[in-house]
Amino acid sequence: MGPLRDEPSLIIKFFKMETMEKLSSEQLMQMEDQYGAHNYHPLPVVLEKGEGVYVWDVEGKRYYDFLSAYSAVNQGHCHPKIIGALTEQAKKLTLTSRAFYNDSLGPYEKFATQFFGFDKMLPMNTGAEAVETAIKICRKWAYEKKGIAENDAKIIVCEGNFHGRTTTIISFSNDPDARKNFGPYTPGFIKIAYDDLPALEVALSDPNVAGFLVEPIQGEAGVYVPQEGYLNNAKALCEQNNVLFIADEVQTGIARTGKLLACDHEDVKPDILILGKAMSGGVYPVSAVLANDHIMGVIKPGQHGSTFGGNPIAGKVAVAALEVITEEKLAENAEELGKLFRSEVQKLVDKYNVLKLVRGKGLLNAVVINDSPESSTAWDICVKLKENGMLAKPTHGNIIRFAPPLVMNREQLLDCVSIIDKTVAAFEK
Ligand SMILES: Cc1ncc(COP(=O)(O)O)c(C=O)c1O
Repeated sequence: MGPLRDEPSLIIKFFKMETMEKLSSEQLMQMEDQYGAHNYHPLPVVLEKGEGVYVWDVEGKRYYDFLSAYSAVNQGHCHPKIIGALTEQAKKLTLTSRAFYNDSLGPYEKFATQFFGFDKMLPMNTGAEAVETAIKICRKWAYEKKGIAENDAKIIVCEGNFHGRTTTIISFSNDPDARKNFGPYTPGFIKIAYDDLPALEVALSDPNVAGFLVEPIQGEAGVYVPQEGYLNNAKALCEQNNVLFIADEVQTGIARTGKLLACDHEDVKPDILILGKAMSGGVYPVSAVLANDHIMGVIKPGQHGSTFGGNPIAGKVAVAALEVITEEKLAENAEELGKLFRSEVQKLVDKYNVLKLVRGKGLLNAVVINDSPESSTAWDICVKLKENGMLAKPTHGNIIRFAPPLVMNREQLLDCVSIIDKTVAAFEK
């Protein structure tokens, strides 16, 4: 039997006493370890403050953030305009549910649909929820518009995908950690190799295929950038087969890769666009699915929703976050600094054996470490980077993802390259 419940007033009293004194990083990590589920393996750093490209730990040490909360904090930490929108709205009205209208949602939907060029938007909160929403819309469209027999619709997905953590989404993952012992799995998905047009063509020959769900760059898998023309040709193949092209731009979207959307690099307009993370600049959970009327129209009252989706704070925060992208030319900055990052890091790849290659687009980049995928070298380098004032995290295999806030400047970026240089030098044998 687990612990019994304590008297609430005693819990509050002791909690206040304990947290009156400033807790150290060690104490805070120990607390998470003892009381939190072990579903993450964080780098040993405890952050308490963020501003722009910087974060500070509880002992006051400053770091460059080179993860941006997995590309959510594209606009930089605590952007004053976005925080202003948040606090102003938080004092007025936070949540109505969709049982009633609120005065923030309509303007937000108008703004966001015009910003991305779609007829309609369906607001949700997290990336995974938005992916689920897109899957549901696609299936409903399959039965009601394409004429597929009920329960027969299939969606094509890619090997190495990452679309979130719900039971349906992990059903088509091939990451054993994400999947194992979470079955039974949701059927209705066909998995093909990423960046493989012939494989897509074969899969599309099945008349029960309704959609192709794809990340324009596979972020979690290790920043795999497909060959030029992949997205464009994939979209054309989908069109030929009356199949919806569904772009998951939760990580790649909102200026991260040097354009508003990664699909823009190939002038591809998805039939269904999935956004999350930087929709709020990392300030609030905001996600969205966008599509034109002939697709979004299949959703009727009562068929999908979320208590928090489209809440007044989310609307105000998202509009501010998207305005910042344009006002501060963050896509242009990501494009320019991304080129600089890759060319500077390429020099380190040429200099150090421990680095195998650098790849990416805009400010979504990864360095592949020259060691077996099972070794801890990428993790060890990230721990050392942290000691040297820069936070990055390994992703699958021996790969380190580098994705700073897009408000970074040239000088800061070059400073970070010199931190990588100094850190990696210590790993040369
Ligand atoms: C491409 C992609 N889709 C979906 C998700 C899931 O988003 P969330 O963690 O907000 O559910 C992520 C998260 O990293 C992602 O990278």
